[in-house]
Amino acid sequence: MTKVNMKVNISGVELKNPVMTASGTFGSGIEYGEFVDLNRLGAVVVKGIANTSWKGNASPRVAETFGGMLNSVGLQNPGVDEFIQKDIPFLRKYDTKIIVNIAGKTVEEYCEVVKKLATADIDLLELNISCPNVKEGGVSFGTDAKMVEYVTKQVKRVSKQPLIVKLTPNVTDIVEIAKGAEAGGADGLSLINTLLGMAIDIHKRKPVLANVVGGLSGPAIKPVAIRMVYQVAKAVGLPIIGMGGIMTGEDAIEFIQAGATGVAVGTANFINPTATMDVLEGIGKYMNQYGVEKISDIRGIIA
Ligand SMILES: Cc1cc2nc3c(=O)[nH]c(=O)nc-3n(C[C@H](O)[C@H](O)[C@H](O)COP(=O)(O)O)c2cc1C
Repeated sequence: MTKVNMKVNISGVELKNPVMTASGTFGSGIEYGEFVDLNRLGAVVVKGIANTSWKGNASPRVAETFGGMLNSVGLQNPGVDEFIQKDIPFLRKYDTKIIVNIAGKTVEEYCEVVKKLATADIDLLELNISCPNVKEGGVSFGTDAKMVEYVTKQVKRVSKQPLIVKLTPNVTDIVEIAKGAEAGGADGLSLINTLLGMAIDIHKRKPVLANVVGGLSGPAIKPVAIRMVYQVAKAVGLPIIGMGGIMTGEDAIEFIQAGATGVAVGTANFINPTATMDVLEGIGKYMNQYGVEKISDIRGIIA
C-alpha cells in the first residue's frame, strides 16, 4: 500500500487520522488496550464526565435490536475529579488526542466540569447536549435551537480548549439546531447521538429496558446519521465529527464524503473490539484503491 495522508484538523487541533472512538463505548480506552494500539487512533473520545459521580439507570439497560442496540446506561461516570486524576495520565502515555465528553443536568453543572478541565492536559471538549435539562423539566438541552445557542455560549465563556457540540438527532430540523450551536460560538460539531427508541418483551408484557425508553445506536441508524451530516455540512462551516453505525472503512468514507472531517466508532466496539483499527485500515485501502492522496480531497464531495 502506498502511504496516504490521513491528517485532519478539528477546530485547530491536528489529528494523525480521522478515526476516533464514540463517547461511552470505549471508556477511556483502558479496557481496550489489549485489542487496540491507542497510538494509532486519531483521538480517544472518553465517556461522558459530569461534575460529580453518577450511578446511571437501573438494569436492564442494554438490549440488542435488529442492526443495533438500545441503551439507557444514563451517563454513569466517576465524576470529573477522579477522571482528571486517573484517566488523563493513562491516556497521555499514548500518542493520540484526548477529547473529553461533558455531561450535565444544568448549565451550571456543564460549566463546573469545563472549569475543572481548564488546566487539564486535554485537547478538545465535546459537549453532550442530549442530557436531560432538569431545570426545564427533563427535556433535552439539544432539542431547542435557542437553548443550544445559550448553553454553548455559557460553556464557551469558561472553556479553555476548543468546544465541539454534540447534537441529538431527536429533532425535526437538525440544521436549525446546528446553526444554534454555531451562533453560540461552537468550534465544531459531533453528530449523531442515539435515536430515542423502545422495545417490548411481549412474553413478560413489559418494556425490555427498566428505563422503558433508550437510545438506539449501531448500523440501523447510519442512513439517518449520513443524512444529518450531509445537511449540516452544507449549512454550517464548522468541522464535523460524524458517527452512527460505523462498522467499516467504507462506512467511514461515506461519512467523509457527506462532509465529516472526523469519524467516530461506537457500537461496533462492542461486537468487534478491534473495530477502530479495521475502520482505519479500511480507509487506507479505499484511498489506495482510488488513488486518493489526501483524505481532505474526498471530504464533502457529494453535491
Ligand atoms: C452504551 C452507550 C453509551 C453512550 N454514552 C455516551 C456518552 O456518555 N456521551 C455521549 O455524548 N454519547 C454517548 N453515546 C452515544 C455514542 O457516542 C454515539 O453517538 C452513538 O452511539 C452513535 O454511534 P454508533 O452507532 O457508532 O454507536 C453512547 C452510546 C452507547 C451505545
